[in-house]
Amino acid sequence: MSLLIKNGEIVTAADRYVADIYCEGETISKIGKDLQVSPDTEVVDASGKYVFPGFIDPHTHIYLPFMGTHAKDTYETASKAALVGGTTCFIDFCIPNQGEDPLAAFETWNSKSDGQAACDFSYHLAVTDFSDRIASQLTEIVQKHGISSFKVFLAYKGALELTDEQLYQELSLARHLGVITTAHCENADLVLELQNKLIAEGKTGPEWHYHSRPPAVEAEGTGHLMTFAEMTGAHVYVVHLSCEEALAEAMRAKHRGVNAWVETLIQYLVLDMSYAEKPDFEGAKYVMSPPLRHKRNQDILWNGLRNRLISTLATDHAPFDFEDQKRRLGADAFTTIPNGIPSLEERVNLLYTHGVKKGRIDLHTFVDCASTQAAKIFGLFPRKGTIQLGSDADIVVYDPDHESTISVKTQSMNLDYSAFEGWKVSGRPHVVTVRGEIAVRDGEFVGTVGRGKRLEREPNH
Ligand code: URP
Ligand code: ZN
Ligand code: ZN
Repeated sequence: MSLLIKNGEIVTAADRYVADIYCEGETISKIGKDLQVSPDTEVVDASGKYVFPGFIDPHTHIYLPFMGTHAKDTYETASKAALVGGTTCFIDFCIPNQGEDPLAAFETWNSKSDGQAACDFSYHLAVTDFSDRIASQLTEIVQKHGISSFKVFLAYKGALELTDEQLYQELSLARHLGVITTAHCENADLVLELQNKLIAEGKTGPEWHYHSRPPAVEAEGTGHLMTFAEMTGAHVYVVHLSCEEALAEAMRAKHRGVNAWVETLIQYLVLDMSYAEKPDFEGAKYVMSPPLRHKRNQDILWNGLRNRLISTLATDHAPFDFEDQKRRLGADAFTTIPNGIPSLEERVNLLYTHGVKKGRIDLHTFVDCASTQAAKIFGLFPRKGTIQLGSDADIVVYDPDHESTISVKTQSMNLDYSAFEGWKVSGRPHVVTVRGEIAVRDGEFVGTVGRGKRLEREPNH
């Protein structure tokens, strides 16, 4: 099997040039002009188009038992939607229930993903409790199965949250094993107190979710993580950072030498808290944690991406239906609305439209934050995240002139709504490849379910 992508403008985090890419088997074997190729090679004409490395979403929840229900996507539906949107690799969260062994959770996630995905993926391994037994299982999973990152929740009191003592132990182990700890940074006790106060005052609608998790709560969580990272020397990665106050905490820590990286989400760049205030319970579509913020934060986050203070742009794709999950389960109180705004399919096009086209970020930053940095931070580089000899042939031939309108009627995600219904977007993946095989053509999935593999960290990471 060989594939030639001809005459496209290749753009990576560092380079931009016109050349052909020849893929033999699963990897890129030649880059240049007038390449000698075998006669049965399939040719994709990329004239007038950009050729990007496959995009990587470092934060998804595909299989997710959460808040009394399950996220709607499967590895099949999610990977198809990811590919249509130009994402050729995602990193999901393997999360043990309270009392469950990490090894048992790892097996559960494997049983959901094995043979089901059309694109490659890996896991962050959540640590929701800590003991000698858990430490030895975490060690085994890291050493035998190539996991490069843990996840901790400072939020979700009584469910996923770690105590400070456990956090210290987890970070010490992560440092010892050489893995990075990703963290949901909101102070769980403050959230609970504020939720109880609001509910007691009869403030039960989705618009009150924001007020139970104001910026100060996220800033405290972020600063808290940074203190623990400083004390243990561990490497930490703040997931879904949403506001100036939290970014300031992370930057202060970086200045004093803490090894910290920051992720933001496409939702925080293009949506604001007014969406969660929509009438007739529509606001529930926009309930996620940390919540959508005041619009003034958007410029700060765009600037953070442009200046590379924020490394990655993810989705936190957590897909729950509006009618049967968000509305039904959350009817009595915002505290029981399943959290999440799905956007796996739209991340790249929204970033292109609102970032590149509007001049907020350049093409290299676009590739860097939506692909390369995730590969580097989570041990997948240079197999993923770039276009170079020997890299996996995960490639996005991108048509910058394509115009379309987002709608639930045409999306591939397995959901009854789109948070971006009616939004116009510029740009679209024209052809997408998964390790040398064409998986998307003209916006349609044509790939192979089961082709996707769980990735292990690269040897020198
Ligand atoms: O609202 C969110 N973020 N839902 C998914 C779970 C999480 O906290 O990442
Ligand atoms: Zn989270
Ligand atoms: Zn998440």
